Amino acid sequence: MSLRQQAEALVHIDEPNVRVTEYQFQPGAETGWHRHMADYVVVPLLDGDLLLEEPGGVARMARLKRHAPYARREGVEHNVVNANAYPFSFIEIEHLKEGLDVKSMLDRFVAAWNAHDLERIMACMTDDCVFWSSAGAHPEGGVFEGREAVAEAFATIFQNFPDAAWIECRITLFGSRALWEWTFIGTGTNGTKTTVLGADILELVESRIRRKNSFRKTMTG
Ligand code: NI
Repeated sequence: MSLRQQAEALVHIDEPNVRVTEYQFQPGAETGWHRHMADYVVVPLLDGDLLLEEPGGVARMARLKRHAPYARREGVEHNVVNANAYPFSFIEIEHLKEGLDVKSMLDRFVAAWNAHDLERIMACMTDDCVFWSSAGAHPEGGVFEGREAVAEAFATIFQNFPDAAWIECRITLFGSRALWEWTFIGTGTNGTKTTVLGADILELVESRIRRKNSFRKTMTG
């Protein structure tokens, strides 16, 4: 297997909802495998042929026409190779949908909880973050304000349940809030196994979590 040279990606515009990138390929150079997370438009800067490698071992040639744009939807997965004997380039314009950054942040957040990775959890929280835990001395439950207090409260959960896991997770976004439904399973330090359904209302500010408001069931049987 020959290693191909990598195409060069020059980002011309990087705004919250649009990114414009110019790809420059030497002959035989490739973008590398990537999955498009957003709808996009390609504007070829030259006439030329691209080899498109697609999932399932598919490879096909695409003929591009200088300045003739084409549009594709998010989800496209491929590796793009310059099949010409000369350097080739095109401009890619991505429509970064609102919520895309938030969704990937929430995916990282849930993964970090299951990895017991406090640093990665806190990377998703704002500087002025607040945690309202399910049980505590206040109408809000336990109240923890500021990064230090919140991180300490999160760490306590991992201390109390060294095997804590949040499974059957479902995340729903609505405006500036997200609902994270989960089933918590964990073994307490005294050996007692807990399985409980619960949810968090996550208040979002600029793709980070300002408040984690936790709710869980109480078994009385
Ligand atoms: Ni692509």
